[in-house]
Amino acid sequence: MTIVSHGPDETFEIGRRIGCYLVKGLSVLIFGGLGAGKTTLIKGAGAAFGIPARDITSATYTIIAEYGGAVPFYHIDLYRLDDIKAIEEAGVFDSIGNGKAAAVEWADKLEGIIDGDIRVDIACGDGDMRTITIEGIDEKDWDYNKAG
Ligand SMILES: Nc1ncnc2c1ncn2[C@@H]1O[C@H](COP(=O)(O)OP(=O)(O)O)[C@@H](O)[C@H]1O
Ligand SMILES: [Mg+2]
Repeated sequence: MTIVSHGPDETFEIGRRIGCYLVKGLSVLIFGGLGAGKTTLIKGAGAAFGIPARDITSATYTIIAEYGGAVPFYHIDLYRLDDIKAIEEAGVFDSIGNGKAAAVEWADKLEGIIDGDIRVDIACGDGDMRTITIEGIDEKDWDYNKAG
């Protein structure tokens, strides 16, 4: 399924809809370059867990941020990890899968290593336009305008 986002608010809303799946204990791997909108989308996903957007950041040295709650949510940023050993030592594999809810930035570093439940590719277009491709969610289950 492919959705065009015209600004950060729309990307946030797409993230919130994805977050509604993550609360079941699923993971999303997010692909896209610097400034694509990965963190913005994850702020939206966090909203589905009741996490305030300001609490989800691109902290320079935070690889795994854990948010407690009824279903713990892990925000994982692999930007600074270069190889499989560093990824493993950081505990990344303990925070993805096995019923854990996780959203991963720079997921290209996990390609060929693990698959998440949901895959999101964000491609930048002109200005604020982003083409967001989502795999792992059945289009018939997705209602972009659905509230809550
Ligand atoms: N359609 C859009 N979706 C998401 N972010 C957008 C969009 N258009 C412009 N932006 C801007 O692009 C930047 C995305 O930043 P961020 O979410 O931190 O990206 P990343 O985590 O991929 O590096 C923000 O400054 C945001 O305001
Ligand atoms: Mg980011």
